[in-house]
This record gives sequence, C-alpha cells and structure tokens, in this order.
Amino acid sequence: MSSFFRTFCIATFLMFAVMPAYPEKPAEIRAIPGRIEWVLSGGNMSYVVGINDEKMPQSVYFGRRLSESAVPPVAGMRPGWASFETPMTTTPLEYAAWGAGLALEPALKVDSANGDRTLILKYMSSQIEANRLEIVLKDTTQPLKVHLFYEMFPEGVLARWSRIENVGRQTFKIDQAASATWNLPRASNYEWSWLAGRWAAEWQLHTAVLQPGTQVLESRVGTTSHTTNPWFEVHQAGLTTEQSGPVWFGELGWSGNWKIAVEVSSTYNVRITGGYNPFDFGFRLPPGQALETPKFYAGFTEGGMGEASRVLHRFQLAELLPSHPRPKLRPVLFDSWESTRFNVAEQNQMALVDLAAKLGVERFVIDDGWFGSRNSDHSGLGDWFVNSEKFPHGLKPLIERVHASGMDFGIWVEPEMVNPDSDLYRRHPDWVLAFPDRQRTEERHQLVLNLAKPEVKEYVFSVIDRLVTENSIAFLKWDYNRTWSEPGWLAGGNETDQINGTEGREVYVDYVRNLYDILARLRKKHPNLDIESCAGGGGRVDLGILRFTDETWPSDNTDALDRLNIQYGYLHAYAPQTMMSWVTDSPNGFDHRFIPLKFRFLAAMQGGLGIGGALDHWSADDLALGETMVRFYKSVQGTIQQGSLYRLSPPSTGAEQVEYVSQDSSQAVVFAYLQAQHNALTYPRVVLQGLAPDSMYRLYPLDPEKYKGPDTVAGSLLMGEGLELNLEGDYAATVVRLERLHEERRP
Ligand code: DGJ
Repeated sequence: MSSFFRTFCIATFLMFAVMPAYPEKPAEIRAIPGRIEWVLSGGNMSYVVGINDEKMPQSVYFGRRLSESAVPPVAGMRPGWASFETPMTTTPLEYAAWGAGLALEPALKVDSANGDRTLILKYMSSQIEANRLEIVLKDTTQPLKVHLFYEMFPEGVLARWSRIENVGRQTFKIDQAASATWNLPRASNYEWSWLAGRWAAEWQLHTAVLQPGTQVLESRVGTTSHTTNPWFEVHQAGLTTEQSGPVWFGELGWSGNWKIAVEVSSTYNVRITGGYNPFDFGFRLPPGQALETPKFYAGFTEGGMGEASRVLHRFQLAELLPSHPRPKLRPVLFDSWESTRFNVAEQNQMALVDLAAKLGVERFVIDDGWFGSRNSDHSGLGDWFVNSEKFPHGLKPLIERVHASGMDFGIWVEPEMVNPDSDLYRRHPDWVLAFPDRQRTEERHQLVLNLAKPEVKEYVFSVIDRLVTENSIAFLKWDYNRTWSEPGWLAGGNETDQINGTEGREVYVDYVRNLYDILARLRKKHPNLDIESCAGGGGRVDLGILRFTDETWPSDNTDALDRLNIQYGYLHAYAPQTMMSWVTDSPNGFDHRFIPLKFRFLAAMQGGLGIGGALDHWSADDLALGETMVRFYKSVQGTIQQGSLYRLSPPSTGAEQVEYVSQDSSQAVVFAYLQAQHNALTYPRVVLQGLAPDSMYRLYPLDPEKYKGPDTVAGSLLMGEGLELNLEGDYAATVVRLERLHEERRP
C-alpha cells in the first residue's frame, strides 16, 4: 500500500471515527431585513427577539428551528387588562425592569440617587459578532444602560446574560438583577420538572402541572445548594414523553444565591426569569462601573426529555467543561474517605495503593485528614500543611509509590473553610463571614472564610498553589461542607467604603467571582490539574462551577440503590462525564443495607467510576471480581462518559435500564438492574435506542448465563423487539456491550 494511500485511509477512518452521530446544524444569528429583529438558530431550535413599537425588546418565538422566511414579526405591546394589569405585565418582554406597572418578576430593580426606584428600558443599538448578539438599552431618564447578550451554540443551546452599566455621575444601588427572562408560547397545558432534595438525597426528580402564579426555585444558602438545582424543564402534557415531544429546558450558571421564577400570568403568559437571588441582595454601582449577571442557558427540542438531556450533555462536553471541546476521560479512581476516614496516614495508604493498583485504578486520592491537626472535623481546617505525625516524611514517599504503581495522585482540600480550632482562625478571626456582635453559627464545627476579601482570596490561592507546586498532584477534590449563616462582611483596613450603602451585600457576588478566579488561576498555572467540585456531595453543581471543574461528587450517599435514583435525576441536567460514583462497602454506612458487589459496581458505572471501599478488608473473590469489573468498565469508559445516554426505563420501575451509545454509534453498552423480583415475573425486555438500524451488532454480555440470544443482532431488531435478559432475585444486575459490525450490513 503506498504511503499516500495509507495516509488517505487513516485520515478517512479518523474522520468517520470522530464524526458525531448528530451532525449539529450550525449556530447562526441573522438580522431580519427591514425590521429590528433577530433570529438565532442552533441545533434544532430557533429563538426570535425584536424591538417593538415602544422600542422595547420583545420575545417573538422560542421553538423548533425556523427558516428565515418563516420568522414572524414582533407582535407589539399587548393591551393591558382593565386598569389592573398594564401592558408591561401583559406583553412578553425580554428584559423588563420594575417600572410602568410591571407586576411580574422584574429582571432588574434599581435605587437611583434621586429616589426613583423604577426604570423603563428602551432600545439604543445592537451588534452581532459571530454567534453573539448584543442589544443595548437605556433607561428613559436615568443614566443607566443595560446590555443584553445572546450567544447561540450549535448543540441547540442559547446563553443569555446582561451587563448593567452606570453611565452617570452618581451611585446606583442594584436590588435585583436577573440574567434573562425566557417567554414560552402561550399555552395552558404545561407541566414542568425540577430537581430537589437534601444532603445525601440530592437530585430527586419532580414533575407537576405548571400552575397559574409563581413557582420558585432558589438558593439562599450562599452556594448552589443540595435542596434545589438551577435546572428546569417545561413540557406539554399529553404530548411530551421521554422519547418525543416538545421540551423547553434551562440551566443557570451560578454557584452563589440564585433564583429562577417560573410564572404563569393571569393571561397564561409563561415566563421564566433567573439570575442573582434578590433575597438580601444589594450591589453598589458607582459611576463608570458595571455588574454582569451569570449566564442563563436554555434550549428547545422536540425529542422529549431524553433528547433534552442529551442536548445539555453534548453542550457541556463541547462548549463548557474546562477542557472542552474534548474533555479528558475521567480516570478510575480510589478515594480513602470511607475506608480510613480521618485516620489517613502514610502506612495505611501505602497498603491501599497496592490493592488499588491491582484492581486497575488509575488515580489514588487521599481524602480528609492529612493536614494540620485534622484528627476529626473539630479542628485543622485552614492549616494546609502536611500532618507530620501521619506523614513523617511528607507526602513524597506516598506519591512516589502511587506513581510507581502506575496511578496519578489526588488530594482532598476544603480551602474556603476554617475551624475555629486552627492556627489560621487564631491569626485571622476577622476573615470569616460574620456580623460584628452576633454569634458565629458553626456547622460541622467550621466557619466560612470571606473569599470576597482580597487578602483571603490571595491566601486561598497561594496555599493551594504551593501544595500543588510542591507535590506532584494531578487532582484536587475541592470540598465545601456547610451553608452560610451570618453573611456579613467584617470591615477591616480600607474596606469601610466598600460596605457603605449595602452593608457589604456585594459578598454574594464577589465571593463567587473570587472562587471562580482562584480556580481559573490554578488551572492556568497547573494546566494538567483536574478539579472535582464537591460540597458535602452535590451542594455545588451548576454550569458556573463546571466551567472550572472537571467533575462533581453528586452525593455523599453511596448506597447503590439510592444512588440509582440520585444518578437518574443528576443525569437529566449534567453529563455522565461529570458524575463520579464510588463502589463502597456493604452493609452501607447510611442505611446498613446489604447489596452484592456486582450490583454496586454496575450502579457506580453510570458515569466516572470510583472505588471507595476498604480494599484491605475485601476477600480474594471480591478483589478478583473488582479487577474484572474495572477491566470491563475500561472497555466502555469513552462510550459511557462521552456517548449518548438513553434512559430506557427509570429506577422507579424497580427494573432500571440505561444505555449509552458512542458518538459514531459503533459501540453501545446497556445496564440492567433488578431491585427485587416479584411473583416470579421475568425481567422486562430491554428495548434499545440510538443504534444504527441497518447495522449488525455483536453482543458481549458480561454474564453469558444472563443472555441466551444470538451473538449478533440487527440494530433495528434491538430497537424493535429488544433483548431478553435473565435477571432474577434481589439486587441482580448485568451489562451487555455491543459492537457494530461494519461488514455485515442488512439490505
Ligand atoms: C464531604 C465529602 O462529600 C466526602 O466525600 C468527604 O470528602 C468528606 N466531606 C470529608 O470531610
């Protein structure tokens, strides 16, 4: 074969190998000739916004992709309803400030120096640059400009945010600032879904009829929160299922206090406004300054709830995660937390290193307990130096052993917190969030450092930077284990001016921005460093933090049965690539439930796989099974983490089935779980999705005794009749890998 021909063949193969199964329709923004109106299209959706007769930006359309000739004109201000609802309330406006009788959730509310607390924003100018549109508005009397930004992505996701700019000579105080309002087509048959829960029970999926009035999702606890996540979906009752029908979905990218208000007005206008939570909010805007709001992402699909998730997953991989567009695969990791707790020490970790390496683990992580006086959660947080009793020779010998065993090394940190019993707190008691004369409420015996203070920000950056620089660290598990209680900004030195007027409420914005900044600087200085966002489990998972962190820890609850539910909810909003899960010991520490090791492994394989059990207590059989399972996982790691997810059957059926198909549909993997068999019923058929219908697939069951069908089956048959799997008893699970055969095409 000539070298030219060989190169040509390899190039052609590579082109097809990486070609996604969903050729994304390009993102584009067009100005409609003769009107002040724009159509933004990407993937299978279009969004249309225009300037109406009152020079206000008005939502025109949000739905399936339109051709240019189909774009409707701006409808214009709607009449009010009697003398009780003004046109501001009845018209679907893009970004309505509080003023002129707006009775719905305002996108903006500002105090002006002359006592006026209202605004009326009108169009000034616009510009399009590549896939980004900027519309500039100005208040009719106050020197305040608002820039509305739109960025369209080819996956079918639109990002919107705003910048509020003081162009006058006096300070404004911002009381409320949203990123965007999304107006949906008027209808009265909407349902919506959201994710709610609590610590160790995050990500529970709820669905309900969208009721007239306001439904609020929010966090007031300083960070994203375990109790609600800034994600939503709206469906049409009777039309939308997992596999088809219209879905409008959205996700806010902010890791501080946030609010999403879902409103159904008296005239069935459905509008969703999201951004900074106005609760206890305040932001001083001196002349020449601007406040930017977080990005609020939304999209539309006609492919049902399953496709809505897949659009978000593709978007996160291609456009958002730190190493996009080709995020590195999450290695199989071991974490010490559940096996050694705070007793982590050189000797016991060395023993675990050898066992983990034998299983095929790729990353060894020491969790809490390695630093300062950290023998329990009562002390040591803030003192980020190696505990010399536990690690008499520093971390080096352990790290060398980890490397020699073919793994990389990761370490746990919780840099935003301090135990009052720590050297750091004794030196800087004024560095925490607190009010001057009020008690400092401790949770888990710790207080929150005020990261908004420049000196605290510098301290946090420098201690973590030093830790990573002095040791060969590939991964930080960045934890955050409490909510805010006294969100005061203790003034020190020249900060008095900073807190005048708003009493330091800027902390809600500045804290999070500084956190993002620290993470960005660390990543820049240590380009190979991976970071996990953990907040006592899933308390800080959102599209803001995911721009700086590679993965998340969705929950501290590692019970495999609970975990199926948790993961089911999580994957509605976030990509499998971002979701870590560990195989831990049985009975589980949370509920003392016994679950067989194979079920625990298969439950933990729905995203990034980790092992968190006490390997030194595993039997020889357990270790042998572990080795087999890790080897199997590695054969489908890319498909699970970066393929397309199909939720074939939810965990609520007791017989969950989850399938992943690689981007080029050449590989698929299907997991089947049976929680408990009833009345000797056979396991439901597994009907696959997303395969190439005309191709033949060879099936590789992990447990040949659980699949008795033919070795090769056509894609169309797998997606029609499906597979029979023989699962019986309680906590039974299995997995089948499918490989597409290129040579055996069906007519
Ligand atoms: C909470 C985390 O979610 C756990 O995995 C563990 O790291 C502990 N913190 C350690 O304190």
